Amino acid sequence: MSNKIVLTGIKPTGMPHLGNYIGALKPLINYSQNHKTFMFIADLHALNTIYNPAEIREHTYQAAALMMALGVNMDNTVLFRQSDIAEIYQLNTFLMNVTPKGLMNRAHSYKAAMDKNTAAGLDTDAGVNMGLYTYPILMSADILLYNADIVPVGADQKQHVEFARDIAGHFNHIYGNLFKMPEPVIGQDTGLIPGLDGRKMSKSYDNTIPLFAPEKELKKKVMRIITDSKTPEEAKDPEESTIFQLYKHFASESEIAEFAEMFRAGGMGYGTAKTILFEKMNSVLAAPRAEYERLMANPEEIEAVLAHGAAQASTVAAETMSRVKKSVLG
Ligand code: TRP
Repeated sequence: MSNKIVLTGIKPTGMPHLGNYIGALKPLINYSQNHKTFMFIADLHALNTIYNPAEIREHTYQAAALMMALGVNMDNTVLFRQSDIAEIYQLNTFLMNVTPKGLMNRAHSYKAAMDKNTAAGLDTDAGVNMGLYTYPILMSADILLYNADIVPVGADQKQHVEFARDIAGHFNHIYGNLFKMPEPVIGQDTGLIPGLDGRKMSKSYDNTIPLFAPEKELKKKVMRIITDSKTPEEAKDPEESTIFQLYKHFASESEIAEFAEMFRAGGMGYGTAKTILFEKMNSVLAAPRAEYERLMANPEEIEAVLAHGAAQASTVAAETMSRVKKSVLG
């Protein structure tokens, strides 16, 4: 067991796809096996885009059920809902006052929103609310409230963790060393998981495979993977095949070597290769999918886990906030 504290937030925005699973969720699950882990559903971070309470609730359950079903080690993990902890709103207010506005102006997500507006000939801040603009401050509060050492995130979130370090630095400089410096850890595989058309798997390319798609849908998606026009007889380079690239994340070393050999040897058509991929994926995903569906049918079970997590998270949050208040307010 490591003595480093791992923390991450999962935004409740719907069913993740296989790229999210392989790049972000799998590493998290691995961390939870031998680290004290704070894992929360970042519902407050969804509020700048989702204005529908039923949707927030449903997506929060989905995200929590997903992590439980995928095998997060619950003995080491505090799983909770971000909005359940009163101290998060408090720390956010304190951090606002040491955060330079210019830092927020440099945030990638805010800049992307401005660029989009400019391209569309709109006012640069059209549609930008303060939730979006100050998103990195709330995220810094998440990280600092629970004394996180390691923050495993996707590449798109790295800047936010660096902002948390900056903000912690400003705070520590003024008030003394209260906050630890968190380290962002970026999943190595992020960005390399191909979607159905061979480009990076991403919602914006509409080429994703949902993690817990029902079996039939999973099969249909896998069968739709785009391949080149090589005949079954022809030898194929596994490294160039989306089918093989996806297979690698679900199979054992020896199965991977065997499948690669089948590509190189020739004699295997893409239809056969897709069937092998589908069966492998399905064998790995069937049990967690069933557990996920069971939990979603029993939301009171999810609520109980989140309530237990909130009680544990509160203890740490209260301790941090009492130190912060003392330092800032005297
Ligand atoms: N912003 C993250 C995302 O969009 C979610 C998140 C919120 C988070 N708070 C966090 C991630 C704290 C790591 C640490 O995915």
